Amino acid sequence: MVCIGILFASIFSALIVSGEGMIQHHNSNVISVANFAMNFHNRMSSYPYAFKVVDIISDTTQLYPPARVKYTLQIQAEQTVCENHASVNLTHCALQPNPENMTCSFTVLAVPGNNDIPKRLLSDHCA
Ligand SMILES: *[C@@H]1O[C@H](CO)[C@@H](O)[C@H](O)[C@H]1NC(C)=O
Ligand SMILES: *[C@@H]1O[C@H](CO)[C@@H](O)[C@H](O)[C@H]1NC(C)=O
Repeated sequence: MVCIGILFASIFSALIVSGEGMIQHHNSNVISVANFAMNFHNRMSSYPYAFKVVDIISDTTQLYPPARVKYTLQIQAEQTVCENHASVNLTHCALQPNPENMTCSFTVLAVPGNNDIPKRLLSDHCA
């Protein structure tokens, strides 16, 4: 059980700003995992414009030995004005006026706090 403490000691809280300018507190690892999954989903889709995460509805984490964590996320996404291509950086992409929205469920394996170790998307469902 000691390893749980070590793992989660490296987790910090952060802010995300949603499309409406609301500020919500979320763990920076959860935000990073959500954005990774959203980008992957955009890549695999034929949307003309990329979607971005505007809210994290729920997140649960589960240890996945030896060092990874399985994240199960439900997020709200809205369509941006940025064309959906591989090099898009969603950070500064504005939302469409009256954007299309969808709710996505993602399951991702990642090492918290370590962006050098590739994350793995295990499941991906948006509707
Ligand atoms: C996207 O742009 C932001 C701000 O310019 C930058 O901090 C971030 O590293 C970029 N992300 C990627 C994946 O290049
Ligand atoms: C999502 O889009 C639908 C149809 O445009 C709209 O009725 C609904 O309010 C939107 N939901 C959110 C959370 O923005």
